[in-house]
Amino acid sequence: MGMYGERMLPRIVNMACGQQDMRPLRRRACASLAGDVVEIGFGSGHNVPFYPPAVTQVAAIEPAGLGWKLADKRLRAATVPVRWSGLDGQDLPFPDGTFDAALSTWTLCTIPDVVAALDELQRVLKPGGTLHFVEHGLAPDESVRRWQRRLEPVQKVVFGGCHLTRPIADLLTGAGFTITELDVFYQTRAPKFGGASCLGIAKARTSTARTR
Ligand SMILES: C[S@@+](CC[C@H](N)C(=O)[O-])C[C@H]1O[C@@H](n2cnc3c(N)ncnc32)[C@H](O)[C@@H]1O
Repeated sequence: MGMYGERMLPRIVNMACGQQDMRPLRRRACASLAGDVVEIGFGSGHNVPFYPPAVTQVAAIEPAGLGWKLADKRLRAATVPVRWSGLDGQDLPFPDGTFDAALSTWTLCTIPDVVAALDELQRVLKPGGTLHFVEHGLAPDESVRRWQRRLEPVQKVVFGGCHLTRPIADLLTGAGFTITELDVFYQTRAPKFGGASCLGIAKARTSTARTR
């Protein structure tokens, strides 16, 4: 990962993801989580205060060790057991059908092979399990998309591979998820190119048969 990726990036992500404006979105994304949950791209644990009591445990997947350290205060205040369980959302260390629910907040933009990560979530979720998400991605408006395409190369360098143009809802349905709740909006007080957002719930396949 190098010095920037190991020492600086997790701190930058911690600050960028710690904005007050993101808290109501985290609350909404987490509100109906229940049972055993896998969170991909745990970062520095900004969702921990929002895990509802219906969650029994959380398996956190995060490549950055410093992220886990920066989560310390939130983890000590956690009301739900959270265990750092793996490094890579593209290759989850769990048997098929392990989890009732999954959580991804501003992570599908960054995982290098997002299709592989969504396939993995399909695999480790129980049939009909739910993926709860809030993500930024491809804007609904062409004028904003133009800026996203221009700025994406810089964004990727500064924010550890973060893409601006991923079509999140299409990626979810392409991976066999059924979106049952979806809110598409521009995040307040964020530039439109980075604040084009979607928040919702997607249901995993009800049969364990793989389609790809
Ligand atoms: C923009 S941050 C979001 C962090 C956190 N989800 C939040 O909402 O505060 C993206 C996160 O994805 C993590 N990430 C990058 N590649 C990953 C991978 N292959 N598997 C899982 N997480 C990854 C990064 O280390 C970073 O913590």
